[in-house]
Amino acid sequence: MQTTLPYSWYADPEILRREQERIFRSAWQYVGHEGQLPEPGMYFAGHAGRTPVVVTRARDDVLRAFVNVCRHRGFPVAEGAGRRETIQCPYHAWTYGLDGSLRSAPRSDEEPGFPREELGLVPAAIGTWGPFLFVNTGPDPEPLDDALGSMPAQVAELGLDVDDLVFHSRWVADLDANWKIVCENFLECYHCQVAHPAFAEVIDTSSDAYALSTEGRLSSQRGPVRETARLDGPLRRSQFHFLWPNLGVNIFAGYPNISIGPMIPLSPERTHRFLDYFFGSSVEAGWIADLMEFDTQVGKEDRGLVEGVQRGLASGVLEHGVLMGRAEQLIGHFQQLTAGALAD
Ligand code: FES
Ligand SMILES: [Fe+2]
Repeated sequence: MQTTLPYSWYADPEILRREQERIFRSAWQYVGHEGQLPEPGMYFAGHAGRTPVVVTRARDDVLRAFVNVCRHRGFPVAEGAGRRETIQCPYHAWTYGLDGSLRSAPRSDEEPGFPREELGLVPAAIGTWGPFLFVNTGPDPEPLDDALGSMPAQVAELGLDVDDLVFHSRWVADLDANWKIVCENFLECYHCQVAHPAFAEVIDTSSDAYALSTEGRLSSQRGPVRETARLDGPLRRSQFHFLWPNLGVNIFAGYPNISIGPMIPLSPERTHRFLDYFFGSSVEAGWIADLMEFDTQVGKEDRGLVEGVQRGLASGVLEHGVLMGRAEQLIGHFQQLTAGALAD
């Protein structure tokens, strides 16, 4: 029987350090959406994985991303979101344009040869898929389209037009579990019948109906809606995509909807999640409220599961668990990619 990753990997600071260096540092990360920067002169602060970033739309209307760390002595320059010509670091008031250039630094005229031109914010790559913004802080990133693989095509095939989506809300949670436990929980629906009765009533999660597939870094789950389900509407299948290392994308059957967000390690035993919900521009408020209520319930149930697993692993008695070869094949794939990236 296939075994899980060693349980020690789910609590070890050294493993997290290597994951940061070898996995997160060079991965495309979902950071937010275009609706956060509708006009020139706007910015917002966020995270690309564990790296603080600031995304800007300067007067020239170009989207840019930078590492949100002041070139002076490291304070985060931007906080929250805003509309202004420049961003000023709160520590010593170095001031940057939204194009990243250092505009002014108090008393720099007293410093002969102050290299102002060399002290702009460190740029990061930015890419878009519909309204979704992705940032990569690695040295030589692959094109975002390559990283997304067939996911945009699968979503389009379902009949969902991402360009017609309107942002609805962001759900945010910190979970007492290693980021890999949160990802692994996303990657199997073996627990759905047991742990998510309301979900399993709507989506057919039986092993014949619920399709699992992998393609490169993409793992997909497709569940048909049950005939009797209340999720009426033109989309007849749900799609749950996972893009290694840490992005979840959920589309429920019914009317156009999507939620997208990363699992970000805060520490070996703590994970930050956010999930941005979008709906088609003509979807009715009542249907949206129903889906939000339903998904909030699933989210609560999953919190209990992943935090329970973390407590179990941390007992330190068992060295690893086992995987169900068929029902948990996507976890096997996730673990293979993760272990491969960490191997010397
Ligand atoms: S750390 Fe930003 S101005 Fe000093
Ligand atoms: Fe779940």
